[in-house]
Amino acid sequence: KYSVVKFGYHVAIPLARSTPGGNTDGSSPGTSSSPGTPHVIALVGLPARGKTYISKKLSRYLNWIGINTRVFNLGEYRRKMVPQYVSHELFNPSNEDGIKLREQVCQDAAVDVVKWFQNEEGEVAVFDATNTTRKRRQYLYEFFVEKHGCNLFFVESVCDKEDIIENNIKEVKTTSPDYMACNEAEVLNDFKARIKHYQEQYETLDEALEPDISFLKIFNAGEKVLVHKHVGHIQSRIVYYLMNVHIKKRTIYLVRHGESEFNVQGRIGGDSDLSENGIEFARQLALFVNALQKPKMKVWTSWMARAIQTTKYINGVQERWKALNEIDSGACDGMTYAEIQEKFPEDFKERDWDKFSYRYHRGESYEDLIARLEPVIMELERQETVFVVAHQAVIRCLLGYYLETSEEELPWLDVPLHTVVKLEPVAYGCKVQHIRFPVGCVSTYRQKPETPGQLEGKYVENTPVVEALRHSPIKDIDSLMLKLEIREHTTIKPEDTAVKNGC
Ligand code: ATP
Ligand code: F6P
Repeated sequence: KYSVVKFGYHVAIPLARSTPGGNTDGSSPGTSSSPGTPHVIALVGLPARGKTYISKKLSRYLNWIGINTRVFNLGEYRRKMVPQYVSHELFNPSNEDGIKLREQVCQDAAVDVVKWFQNEEGEVAVFDATNTTRKRRQYLYEFFVEKHGCNLFFVESVCDKEDIIENNIKEVKTTSPDYMACNEAEVLNDFKARIKHYQEQYETLDEALEPDISFLKIFNAGEKVLVHKHVGHIQSRIVYYLMNVHIKKRTIYLVRHGESEFNVQGRIGGDSDLSENGIEFARQLALFVNALQKPKMKVWTSWMARAIQTTKYINGVQERWKALNEIDSGACDGMTYAEIQEKFPEDFKERDWDKFSYRYHRGESYEDLIARLEPVIMELERQETVFVVAHQAVIRCLLGYYLETSEEELPWLDVPLHTVVKLEPVAYGCKVQHIRFPVGCVSTYRQKPETPGQLEGKYVENTPVVEALRHSPIKDIDSLMLKLEIREHTTIKPEDTAVKNGC
């Protein structure tokens, strides 16, 4: 039975799920490549090889394209079982108690994965542990594939570059809950000893020795990748995604076009020009961007007039993406929210109930928009610094990817005009700055109303370009910098400190 289900790319996929012990299509367990079968992605690699980083990033991406994904971090399970970490001796291969503890941790997490598939419609579980021995991988194969009929795909990170490893330890291990009271030198010593214990028994993935398993091997943070026997749509997506990610420092800037004439009238969609405020914003934005001095920086805009006019004064080559065009509001294009409420009251209400999935007649939904934006995200992953000038709904979707916003919240994110969002991805999250420019503008934000269909969340009055600016406009970056309002926060949540280490 085929049906269109909520799934990245909106492809028709079978709804039937594999049942424990056998596949619903009658094939024997472990042979299914049906996209309806739950997947386990098991990481492999020595400590500080980026396994947690890859797990979190992959899970964020898969959730964003609509695949229900969760990371099961075995370091977190271990700390729940034994909260007090003493030293690297826990990982010594001749420490019997340590071995027992780690086996128990692995079994508990594996059982939880299956429960999550069965009870919470989980689709992809990322099993974040070292899984460095063939014995451990054999156990995972028997448990997940043979006993529970899941697909299993291993992702190994191999890294022999001392500078990367040392950097990784400094970046994430020094703040790990295992090392609360330690200084950097103590962390480095203990962590390097931990790595040595693992090295003693490390067996890398080898197609000659484990010929039947599917895997992807990433060498030195993406220098080279090797794929062996990957199966089906989800594994292909994972391979393609992980081939594109890199760990170089980068900054992503996201901004809406300057205020447009339609914004001033409270109309959605259309292809109107910038208002007077919008033109002033374009001038100031150019001062800001031209002063950034990032030689490899790319400037991307949509193909809409208001976005192109916003980057008019920025120096250098720009790239235009149709995929960055604003959400297509179809039959409602060019109307105000009040007009939509009056003409299509049922639709207006329906959109408030489920704004993420609601599709305008002859137009798009936020869900459609994410599918349209996936190539943009993939390209953003490959690039270093990029300045993206787009639109309210588009920026919400891009922000949703970086900030891991839920589907319920994403379409209601407040993304004001004349405000640049600066994103700096770090190991397990993102540093965020909101940079507000000193140019008045309307607010196009309509809050989620208490009762769906109510016309709440009024527009803020149009603020004209401040008189003072009209007489002595900001002409240089130093004057502009003094007038920017900057708000900062980070998306690294407190609980993330508890999942920083693998097993
Ligand atoms: P542990 O086994 O202790 O949990 P880990 O392998 O999970 O360690 P992470 O905690 O994920 O390691 O390390 C994060 C660091 O790894 C980040 O600084 C990130 O830049 C870096 N990193 C990400 N991907 C890779 C990769 N493919 N190879 C090497 N380092 C990477
Ligand atoms: O109002 C500006 C705008 O970019 C419209 O063109 C677009 O339809 C709308 O924002 C998207 O926001 P929402 O999904 O909240 O209606």
